[in-house]
Amino acid sequence: QTCILVGAPVDSGKRRRGCLMGPDAYRTAGLADALGDLGHTVEDRGNVRPAPFTPQAHAKIHAREETIAWTEALAAAAETSLRDGLPIFLGGDHSLSLGTVLGAMRHADAINRPLFVLWLDAHSDFHTPVTTDSGNLHGTPLGYVTGRSDFDGFPAVTRPLPQDNIAIIGLRSVDTAERAALQESSIQHVDMREIDESGIAKPLTAFLERVAAANGMLHVSLDVDFLDPAVAPAVGTTVPGGATIREGHLVMEMLHDSGLMTSLDLVELNPFLDERGRTARVMVDLAASALGRRVFDRPTRAY
Ligand code: ARG
Ligand code: MN
Ligand code: MN
Ligand code: MN
Repeated sequence: QTCILVGAPVDSGKRRRGCLMGPDAYRTAGLADALGDLGHTVEDRGNVRPAPFTPQAHAKIHAREETIAWTEALAAAAETSLRDGLPIFLGGDHSLSLGTVLGAMRHADAINRPLFVLWLDAHSDFHTPVTTDSGNLHGTPLGYVTGRSDFDGFPAVTRPLPQDNIAIIGLRSVDTAERAALQESSIQHVDMREIDESGIAKPLTAFLERVAAANGMLHVSLDVDFLDPAVAPAVGTTVPGGATIREGHLVMEMLHDSGLMTSLDLVELNPFLDERGRTARVMVDLAASALGRRVFDRPTRAY
């Protein structure tokens, strides 16, 4: 495969700074070599930059104009890179996914395939600019791409992503307004309790079967806080009780076995909060598993 690294040093989706260093932390941790060692062609396209924007003061929403500029730039970058290979977006906070998922939606529309999204996250990121309490737009990408209202000024979502095409796995911090909206939705939402009770493979398999049955494209968005803070401390929004390293690798290996993943976001790494690069390394290892790194091969599972 051709893996295309796209740096997305987005830091506007929340107030605590540092995610802008993420792309270089992944490069330093050896992402390109790890993927090259697996036999992939790796092309690093450098970092995307937003067009100039004029910041305006808002009572509630943080850095709205900057995030709009990033959304436009990243949607374009995602659409282009998807034509050439499997893009890996090096975040950057999770507001980058307003752009990357929008671009993936445009690409999927252009080639007439449905897009599915797997959201690996402690949070559901299903807010709108009106329902958010924090005013941090990194809590809104799934609200945006599914066509929820009040994203004035952002690129119009002309054909929203169907809720049926989304699974969120790893949930353990969902705000009241999000919970109500999620429960009314047809988004597959898997919390840590379900993972504890039935294992993570079961809900993931169910989702992948749906993607395969629809001949879907699959965008995967991996938030550092999906993992337990004990193994992945470099994130501003840690929530205890997250996925283990083993659960993380299992998900990534199953994604590779499925052959379904067509793009990947690595988001919310804040290298300023890391300990000697360990979180960056964990994320690189997970990306490698998603692109085929194995201890031993398993018989391929047909979905
Ligand atoms: N729900 C909270 C908020 O709206 C947390 C969002 C965290 N999102 C993230 N991408 N880390 O502020
Ligand atoms: Mn997130
Ligand atoms: Mn999160
Ligand atoms: Mn439900």
